[in-house]
Amino acid sequence: MNGKPHNNNFGQGGSGLIPRETIDEIRNRVSIAEVVRGHVQLKRKGRDLWGCCPFHNEKSPSFQVRDAEGYYHCFGCGAHGNAFDFVQQIQGLTFPDAVEYLAGKAGVTIRREKANPVKQKQKVDGFGALERATVHFERGLKGEALDYLYNRGLSKETINTFRLGYAPDEWRELKTALTAESYNDKIMLDTGLIRTSDKGGEPYDTFRGRVMFPIQDMQGRPVAFGGRVMDGSEPKYLNSSETPFFKKSNILYGLYHAAPQIRRTEQAIIVEGYMDVIGLYQHGVQTAVAPMGTAITEDQVALLWRYNDAPFVCLDGDSAGRKAASRLAQRVLRVLTTGKGLRFAWMPEGEDPDSFIAAQGADAFNEVLKNAVTLEDVLWQDLTDGYDLKTGHGRAAVEKAIADTVSQIQDELVRKHMNGALRDRMWQTIRQAPQGSQNQKAGQKGFNKNFKKPAGPVGPTTDRNAGAVEQVLLALVLHNTAVLEGVGEPFARLNFSAGRLQYLQEQLLKFLSPTGVDTSGLEAHLRMAGLESDVLDLKKRTGVEKLLADNNISEKHELERFWLSLYAETEASRSKKRATAAFLERGGENVANDLDAWQKFKAAKLKGIDVGGSD
Ligand code: UTP
Ligand code: MN
Repeated sequence: MNGKPHNNNFGQGGSGLIPRETIDEIRNRVSIAEVVRGHVQLKRKGRDLWGCCPFHNEKSPSFQVRDAEGYYHCFGCGAHGNAFDFVQQIQGLTFPDAVEYLAGKAGVTIRREKANPVKQKQKVDGFGALERATVHFERGLKGEALDYLYNRGLSKETINTFRLGYAPDEWRELKTALTAESYNDKIMLDTGLIRTSDKGGEPYDTFRGRVMFPIQDMQGRPVAFGGRVMDGSEPKYLNSSETPFFKKSNILYGLYHAAPQIRRTEQAIIVEGYMDVIGLYQHGVQTAVAPMGTAITEDQVALLWRYNDAPFVCLDGDSAGRKAASRLAQRVLRVLTTGKGLRFAWMPEGEDPDSFIAAQGADAFNEVLKNAVTLEDVLWQDLTDGYDLKTGHGRAAVEKAIADTVSQIQDELVRKHMNGALRDRMWQTIRQAPQGSQNQKAGQKGFNKNFKKPAGPVGPTTDRNAGAVEQVLLALVLHNTAVLEGVGEPFARLNFSAGRLQYLQEQLLKFLSPTGVDTSGLEAHLRMAGLESDVLDLKKRTGVEKLLADNNISEKHELERFWLSLYAETEASRSKKRATAAFLERGGENVANDLDAWQKFKAAKLKGIDVGGSD
């Protein structure tokens, strides 16, 4: 990957042009063998040096270096050139930057021809200053600082790709160098390269004694820096403040390098830090980006969405990481649009992506991604956190939390669907919860008025697994959907396995909201869902109209009571179903349907016949 963009500003602005003689002097002084040795292992054969070509893949050496004549040549791929060509190619530098870089190695000071002073005040010059600073830091990366990065497992290539550097622990090292290149204090201040102390006095270098991580924009231009100490001092990382050249909301660290691979692999990963991006990159996971010294913002997520629909967010598995995920999930709702999402992947405790991939490798890291959960999962976790869905007030709180959460979604379509999905989950969870004592209580709580029993359904049922009473209960709800307000929770518990009736039940549950049931919308919805004939069929089959008339029920609250009393029977019936079956088998009884069976069972029990099972 090319670590360095083609920089059109270079050589204009304040940098000036490098005189021909200076270039020749550098060429004469620099040893190409030395330069190449930084990247290729060389062995002497006769008067030439040989190694494996860094520009193509090979196992036996066909890369020749002639130090005296100052060139290299590959007999395998034809790569050929002088020291300037070599650094340009291998480090992805522009020619002027290659000259700068080698000047540093050769100890040649570059005296630039005067640039147009008017241009120095222009904004474009800021990029020039930032670029010069980057080169300056790159050149300063040697000795202890370079060893530090090597010790952290980085290769020369990775270091070059990300243009890592070092700012020595001195007050005005960079400032002096840039001043010599005719950058003025103003542009250095504007770009955040130097700063003034509160007490006034001469400005000094912002970054001192730090390993430098240039932050590149989408054109690859350095626009800011992160700097890390090498000892344990604080702060560990110092980051550029925002400047006219650096707006955190529209930059992600590493995106310039990752963008092509993000597109190619349709994968993007948000990690926490500079070293995570770089560590993953070196291990072949070249799709990671990071915020710069802050938590990831919704704007940065929106930026990444231009490249990928569902980026992974890679966080610590500890509680701090979970909290960060919650905060991000909440914040991102504002900018959530159709087709976009996030996936949250949890690193094992005590590991960050950098340390993890170094220890376990890329496959293990990809495995972590595979276990990611969705944005919806994280929202759901948050919504229900601390609430007991088995209690009424817990459910109320969750309902309210769902409403509050989805109200933050600006996109209407997404809001509607997220609402539906979260509400589905709520009912699903309630339904799956172990049968608590409340339902029995609901059945006992004064609902023992003796209602006339419904007749069993006639004709074939569309759902063979659904019991008769369940079907009646469903039909009653359809008769007057307003009762859902009062019976929603037990209704959600009814089990229709996987047939049409279950589908019908689910569609009904969708229309239950904290403010009641939207009955008119519901009818239209059922029609749209193609359930109209199922509804008619079920009503007819179960004879609910007649049943209600027989029981003289017309008011909603009466219907609710009737419904709950019937429901209590299904609960009881379920627990005794097995006993019923055994009893009927023993007696050789012929039964028309479940309800009939249940009635016969009860009758037998009343007569004191041993039917087995407990009450
Ligand atoms: P970490 O402390 O997790 O650092 O901070 P890291 O990326 O793993 O770096 P190494 O491995 O210790 O070198 C994560 C990110 O938080 C920001 C930086 O952006 C860092 O990459 N940070 C951290 C700061 O801005 N300042 C700090 O003092 C610490
Ligand atoms: Mn780390």
